Amino acid sequence: MKPRFIDLFAGIGGFRKGFEDAGYECVFTSEINEACQEVYENNFGDEVFGDITKIEPSNIPDFEVLLAGFPCQPFSISGKKKGFEDTRGTLFFDICRIIDEKQPKVVVLENVKHLIHHDKKRTFKTIIKTLEDLGYNVTYKILNAKDFGLPQNRERIFIMATKNGFFRFDKLKKKKPVYLKDFLDTKGDFEYLEKEEYTLIEKPKTQDTGLIFTGYRNKNTWKNGIRPNTEHLSRVHRQPNRIYSIEGTHPTIPSQETSGRFFIYLPNEDKVRKLTLNECYRIMGFPDNFKRHQKTGEQYKQIGNSVAIPVIFEVARSIKEQKLLINEPQEKVVGDLRELLFS
Ligand SMILES: C[S@@+](CC[C@H](N)C(=O)[O-])C[C@H]1O[C@@H](n2cnc3c(N)ncnc32)[C@H](O)[C@@H]1O
Repeated sequence: MKPRFIDLFAGIGGFRKGFEDAGYECVFTSEINEACQEVYENNFGDEVFGDITKIEPSNIPDFEVLLAGFPCQPFSISGKKKGFEDTRGTLFFDICRIIDEKQPKVVVLENVKHLIHHDKKRTFKTIIKTLEDLGYNVTYKILNAKDFGLPQNRERIFIMATKNGFFRFDKLKKKKPVYLKDFLDTKGDFEYLEKEEYTLIEKPKTQDTGLIFTGYRNKNTWKNGIRPNTEHLSRVHRQPNRIYSIEGTHPTIPSQETSGRFFIYLPNEDKVRKLTLNECYRIMGFPDNFKRHQKTGEQYKQIGNSVAIPVIFEVARSIKEQKLLINEPQEKVVGDLRELLFS
């Protein structure tokens, strides 16, 4: 029998695709947003339950793995150390209600890396403590899509809570760097910029992130207060005006950008064009036959909110390899060791 999972805060199903590809079976999905529900149902066929706060955990079929890329909210801690009761009123509390009732073997939580610092680190500490109070071994790490076969610098925190043993991030198989040029459409109606619309910088350098900042659109923004001769630095330009080379990686596809202002430089043609929507979905690891929403703005928003599928696949594969789904007593890791061992 395939291991079973539930897909919470499912969006358009990035987690589901990664886990299904690794041989798991989805038995329940929750997602409140109608546009996401539509895309999810179109691609996976299953009906999607709406608001997580309305879920009665005893009505969920049994499963081994709980997946949740949940929105980050501040907790108001009562200080009474009541465990997950302290998180009441937040969506994390709803995840915990389900964990408490259903006792999955593995919980995978994913979020923006800022979650660690959110609300003076209180949010993160509460999450870890609450999961431990619920009887789990917790490890966490920031994973970057560029280490898993995608040309995108996308860092996300993964929190792994396990009943048997603990999840070891050092067991994940990383891949060699790949470049944007190998993920591009070969034909299409490309939106090129005119030469006078942008400036290329002289000696572009590859940054540690794999990005190669090659130029900027000549927009009259962020000019005030800029010192002379700093135009070659990406940080003095607003994100939608930056141009990156296809010889490197792409910056994070954000969810706030709904008109797709991602510009790439093609050295062979000496041209700058917009990254296409196909390319946006491809550098998140979505297959070309994925059925997207009919509205362009929604497509950008949904992909920016989603997960890098190869990262999810590798986590799913490794859970099996690390034998975290079977009932074998294993070594326990606590406290500061967690970070030392797994970073
Ligand atoms: C960061 S996104 C996760 C996207 C997903 N990982 C993917 O691959 O597309 C968080 C999702 O939580 C959903 N959400 C927010 N509040 C919710 C609630 N009360 N019940 C169910 N889903 C909710 C949002 O609509 C959003 O799609």
